[in-house]
Amino acid sequence: MTFNRRTLIGSALALAACDGRIDAAAQPTSRGPAPALRDLAPFPFGTQLISDELSIPGVADLARRHFDQVNTGFELKMEYIVQADGRLRFDGGDRLAAFCRANNQVLHGHTLVWYADQPAWFERLDGSRRAFEAAFDGYISEVAGRYAGRARAWDVVNEPVTDEGSELRESLWSRNLGQDGHFVRAFEQARQADPDAILFTNDYHLESNPTKRRTFLNLVERMVRRGVPIDGIGTQCHVSVDLPRGALTQSMRDIASLGLPVHVSEFDCSMIPDGVFPASRRDRETAQIRLYEEALESYASLPAAQQYGFTVWGVRDAESWLRRTDYGGDASDTPLLFDDEGRPKPVFWSVAETLGG
Ligand code: XIL
Repeated sequence: MTFNRRTLIGSALALAACDGRIDAAAQPTSRGPAPALRDLAPFPFGTQLISDELSIPGVADLARRHFDQVNTGFELKMEYIVQADGRLRFDGGDRLAAFCRANNQVLHGHTLVWYADQPAWFERLDGSRRAFEAAFDGYISEVAGRYAGRARAWDVVNEPVTDEGSELRESLWSRNLGQDGHFVRAFEQARQADPDAILFTNDYHLESNPTKRRTFLNLVERMVRRGVPIDGIGTQCHVSVDLPRGALTQSMRDIASLGLPVHVSEFDCSMIPDGVFPASRRDRETAQIRLYEEALESYASLPAAQQYGFTVWGVRDAESWLRRTDYGGDASDTPLLFDDEGRPKPVFWSVAETLGG
C-alpha cells in the first residue's frame, strides 16, 4: 500500500470517525485531523518535555498523542536535582516518569554528567580526590538507581567534545577524575545502578563539523575497546536551515558505522541561519521541511537494531529552547512541528507523510 497525503488523511479520518470523536490533540484542520505521528513512525518517535509544560493547555495532549518517548530537557540534570546543601530534588523527574507511565511512553533520562552542569556542592569538593570520587559515584548511583525500571535509557556523559571539535572538553569532572577516568567512571556507575538501562553518550554539531564527529566517534570506539558499557550514540542534530543537503545523511552513515544503536536525540531546525542564507521565509520553510525529511529518511535507512529513536527537541515553538535569548536564541524562531498555539505546521504534514512512508 503506497502512502500519500490523501491516504494518510483518509485513514486518519476513518480512525477518528470509528471512535466517534476526534481527539482534542488531533486539531481538525482543513486537511482533516492531524494523524498521530507515534502511530506512523516505524521507530520510537520522541519529544523533549519539562514537567511544567504539562500544565499548559493542550501541550500534554499533543505530547501523549504524537510521541511515544520523552526526553527530559531539564529535570534530570544536576542543575535541577542537586540543591545547595547537597540534597537531591526529584519532583520534576518523578512527574515526567509518571506521565510516561500513564501514556505508555519511554522515558529517556538526560543527563547524568555534563560539562555545563557544575553544581556548587560538587565545586566545593574540587581537588579533594577521595571525597569527589565518593560524591560523583554516589550521585550517579542514587539518580540512575531511583529511575531503574522507569527510565529506559540515560545520556550518561553529554557533550564530551569541544565546540571546535579536535579535543575532549576539560571540566570539573575531567579535572578531578581524569579525561578518560570521568567518562569510564560515569558509565560504570550507571551500569551498576541500573543494569537494564541503555547507556548513551551524546553530542551536537556532528552533522556540520566532521572534525568533531571524528573526535567523538574515536572516543566512543576507544571506550568500547576498553570495555566501557556504552550501549548507544546520541547525535543531537540541532540544525539550521543553511545546513547543506547531504550533511545529515553522511553524518548518520558515519555514526551508524560503529554498529551501535543511534539516537537522534534533540532534533530541531532553526529558521535563523548560521551562515548566509536567502532571507525569504518561504525559502527557509522549504529548507526546514527538506532537513526534517532528510533526517528522518536517513534515520529510517538504518538497520532496525540501530533505530533507538528519533527525538524532536520540544512540542510547540513557544517553548523551544531556541527562543531563549539567555541561550543566544531568537524569540522569533520556529524550529518545531507545532506552532505557538499547538497547531500542526506545514513541516508537521511533511513529517507525517515521510514517517508514513
Ligand atoms: C536545554 C533545554 O532545552 C533547556 O530547557 C534547559 O534550560 C537548558 O538545556 N544540548 C543539550 C540539552 O544537551 O541539554 C540542552 O537543552 C540543549 C543543548
